[in-house]
Amino acid sequence: MKKKRAEIRDYFLKTYSLYEKLFELLKDEQSYYLTADPLRHPLVFYFGHTASFFINKLVLAKLIDKRINPVYESIFAIGVDEMSWDDLNQSHYKWPRIEEVRLYREAVKAKVLELIDTMPLSMPISWESPFWAIMMGIEHERIHLETSSVLIRQLPLEHVVPNDFWKVCPFDTPVVENSLLHVKGTTLRLEKKRDDALYGWDNEYGLHVKEVKDFKASKYLVSNAEFLGFIEEAVMKMSVFGMKRVGSGKRTKMPRCLCFGVKMRKGMRFA
Ligand SMILES: [Fe+2]
Repeated sequence: MKKKRAEIRDYFLKTYSLYEKLFELLKDEQSYYLTADPLRHPLVFYFGHTASFFINKLVLAKLIDKRINPVYESIFAIGVDEMSWDDLNQSHYKWPRIEEVRLYREAVKAKVLELIDTMPLSMPISWESPFWAIMMGIEHERIHLETSSVLIRQLPLEHVVPNDFWKVCPFDTPVVENSLLHVKGTTLRLEKKRDDALYGWDNEYGLHVKEVKDFKASKYLVSNAEFLGFIEEAVMKMSVFGMKRVGSGKRTKMPRCLCFGVKMRKGMRFA
């Protein structure tokens, strides 16, 4: 069990510091307060959010009874989901200074490490196990590693700085010819049981049986090069037919430029 505890400790520390490394891509403190996507909070929210998530879940699971910072654990708790009830009015929030959020992250880290070292641990870690909340916090931060990197990618480039840790992919291989393969229809049965050996989010559990008709699927994973062709075609259609509303619900947005596109004097290029 000592080995397993050390493994979880290592997984937590790697995830926590990897997430912080991502924010080193921001040029300065001001960049944290920019709203990279009009349907999301500024980046400072995501910097605090993954830490406050640990505390909120640990309180909910009654594993701790004292909050670290009740104000942060409230303002960093609720993200936005493009729903009409989401509060995106930035004048309703008073975001703290980055140095303070950094100190808060340190305090959360110390608390989580203390729990990893002292809480009772038995395998397998089930929904009822105290360690479930810890694993949930780690996997949650890993999700935000992806979503926050997309948000940083959406910032104006002058707010992003190169970083040796996050190197540009060094491989550029020729595009493989892809094709569509015929797949025969069948009855699909998707099931994840509560005692499944792998961690999952609540909506992944249960049984779903579905009749699927014949369909076609690409032989290889769709590459970035193939996807670029699709985007270029979409841009062409947008300029020919005018722009359409995107998004759902009340708060739709009218794009002036595709995400990740840089508006040029003549059309658009992809950065
Ligand atoms: Fe989240």
